[in-house]
Amino acid sequence: MIEKWIPQYNLLEDSYQDKVKEQFETLDINTIERVYNETYVNKTEVDLSSVEEVPYVLKSALDLDAVSEAANTAVDSGEVAVVLMAGGQGTRLEHPGPKGTFSFEGVSLFELQARQILEFKNAQGELKVRWYIMTSDINHEETMDFFKEHNYFEVPEENIHFFKQEHFPPLTKEGELLLTEYKDIMLTPNGNGGIFSSLKNSGMLKEMEQAGVKHVFMNNVDNVVVKVLDPALVGLHVTENNDITSKSITPKSGESVGRLAVMNGSKGVVEYTELPAGSEDKFTNANIGIHMYSMNFLNKAADGEMPYHLALKKLEHLNHHLTVVKEEVLKFEKFYFDAFKYADKHNTLQVDRKGEFSPLKNKAGNDSIETAFKDLTEEGLI
Ligand code: UD1
Repeated sequence: MIEKWIPQYNLLEDSYQDKVKEQFETLDINTIERVYNETYVNKTEVDLSSVEEVPYVLKSALDLDAVSEAANTAVDSGEVAVVLMAGGQGTRLEHPGPKGTFSFEGVSLFELQARQILEFKNAQGELKVRWYIMTSDINHEETMDFFKEHNYFEVPEENIHFFKQEHFPPLTKEGELLLTEYKDIMLTPNGNGGIFSSLKNSGMLKEMEQAGVKHVFMNNVDNVVVKVLDPALVGLHVTENNDITSKSITPKSGESVGRLAVMNGSKGVVEYTELPAGSEDKFTNANIGIHMYSMNFLNKAADGEMPYHLALKKLEHLNHHLTVVKEEVLKFEKFYFDAFKYADKHNTLQVDRKGEFSPLKNKAGNDSIETAFKDLTEEGLI
């Protein structure tokens, strides 16, 4: 059985065989086989025949004073927490370390967000906002060390909670497991869609409930101009009592952003990597990775089934002769927005791009160090 999944197994020295066998026994092989067959062998295109535009409100249509007041009341009473997704590998940026540690003029992405959270201290100097940060096995220690070295950017340590996401093994195109250069079975972060079950399994959901958290603001680590706890979004969410409130912008033609949409009657996101050719410009609300959730939704999503999506990535691993090679392999990822179907009430707030979205994804070109630096400077953030 193990040789079918790891053809090099017999070439390993005894001690490595024991270690690999032990690792193999912890894997859920039936699920791995099913995911391989469903996402790669029998891959199907996203069916866009029954996809419609999501309903949305424009920021200019909001009564900003009223929603801001509602947001401030909720934040000041400790009902709103922030969850940051920072477990990804950031391979496109080629930054050697957790993406949040990438710095512009000495200011890291983590610090840019911490500074905003600190703005919510109340008149007594007390901070009621709890900050939950999702890491993964590949960056947990480094992330913790970075926060420690920077004295948590002055955010009280007891307000910050780190939790780890799930992992899943990548496979070769032939459906075999990969061995790392250290002769371990390779596991990689399995996308951000495990966030809900990880929040629950790590005890964070319970912790939030006990602390009186009622609403959660979630964001990506890499949007350098993100408005953490933007009163317009928080206020709309609490006044409408939504399960989810998403923030969106109008996408540029061909832009690498998911598109918020209604699919077969449920709201969700068509990811840019899966948009059927010719449908890129069909939608007017881009997913910019900023969403508000109710606790009710988080609890439902934590127990919901999440499908895997396929990504092709070049990863270093050992070939059949135990030589290190860097070849394209199959990586499997869950997307958090597949859980949006568990929400009863979901609204979208469309805002202007300027001062709201400038993602740091690539070393050069679009959404790069250069574009992020320009936007940070223009917004006066560095
Ligand atoms: C993501 C969105 C896309 C959106 C775009 C906006 C997903 C699946 N897609 O695309 O719809 O238009 O952002 O910038 O979210 N992460 C983890 N663990 C993982 C993988 C990712 O925590 O295993 C985190 C990353 O650190 C990042 C966020 O999730 O904060 C987005 O992940 P990324 O892989 O950068 O997604 P994109 O392809 O940029």
